[in-house]
Amino acid sequence: MAAVASRIAGVKGLADAGIAMVPGEYRRDSDPRQCVEIEEIPVIDLSDVEKCSPARILAIDSIRSASRDWGFFQIIGHGFPEQLMANMMELVHDFFRLPIEDRSVYYSEDSSSKFRMGTSFIPSKETRRMWQDYLHQACYPPCEIAQLPTKPPSYVKISTAYAEAMNRLAKRVLGLFSESLGLESGALEEAFGGERHAMRMNYYPPCPEPELTIGLDAHADPNGFTILQQDTRVKDGLQILHCGAWVPIKPLPGAFVVNIGDQLQILSNDAYKSVEHRAVVNSERTRVSIASFYGPAEDSHIAPLAQLVADEAPACFKESVYGNYLQSFYASKLDGKAAIETVRY
Ligand code: OGA
Ligand code: NI
Repeated sequence: MAAVASRIAGVKGLADAGIAMVPGEYRRDSDPRQCVEIEEIPVIDLSDVEKCSPARILAIDSIRSASRDWGFFQIIGHGFPEQLMANMMELVHDFFRLPIEDRSVYYSEDSSSKFRMGTSFIPSKETRRMWQDYLHQACYPPCEIAQLPTKPPSYVKISTAYAEAMNRLAKRVLGLFSESLGLESGALEEAFGGERHAMRMNYYPPCPEPELTIGLDAHADPNGFTILQQDTRVKDGLQILHCGAWVPIKPLPGAFVVNIGDQLQILSNDAYKSVEHRAVVNSERTRVSIASFYGPAEDSHIAPLAQLVADEAPACFKESVYGNYLQSFYASKLDGKAAIETVRY
């Protein structure tokens, strides 16, 4: 019982209690904050992509090269309301500021629950925990309004407005990904056979010994692609593995980070790669990030697109049902790119 209570209280509970040392199960062997600040990931302007064809061609070319070379890029000029970005960020901070009695009813260790609060990744099984708590919310298909928090009072309104605007942006980005692969703009949408869109709101409280632990272990996202809002008030957090080195992704005000997930790697027949990334923590202030995971419908069968398979480029991956892929992802510990290797020929 005590173990469950401590999982419900999460790392927010440890931070609030004012612990001076990171407990053993959170420790890692090396300081994950060590990284190299080489180049920055590409920044792509989507301002005129719907209107003007030179801007569209430029954006599509940039998406193609960023997806091949980095698997990550930032987008600006995306049209997503800035106020809504700020409100959503504040909402997550406000939720976690609530007393634990108000939050604990949402705690669940069932990865299929459509709305839940959690800590680390699979805390009941992990021997090495991560310094983060989170909220998970299914967006499309949505969870019942009745499952969503009643506090803060604006929770339903802001989170559903955010999910709606994000869904529109994700569909536009999906069309651009299709064209960047030389396909009709609806090709990936068709291959997705519907959609699964969920958000993970990561909450990383200050940590007394950030050099000894990690906020989020190295992993690749299992979905189609991810659109991430970073906390512009915190400098360090997200890092990506690029050419064998960990590179920090500095938050750019107003921008979203976009990254390729496993399903896009599979559909593109390895032309695009999901890239390993992780998050580090700091001792000064809470960092929040909002990850919107966009991908195929859970019952869709995903395999390399026929248009991208040829005699000289045979299919690299076996077909899998996306829902099954996700289930095995959520049943195993975060382990770099291990998931996609299980479906490679
Ligand atoms: C994720 C993720 C990065 C971050 O939620 O999958 O990679 O900066 N988050 O929190
Ligand atoms: Ni991720």
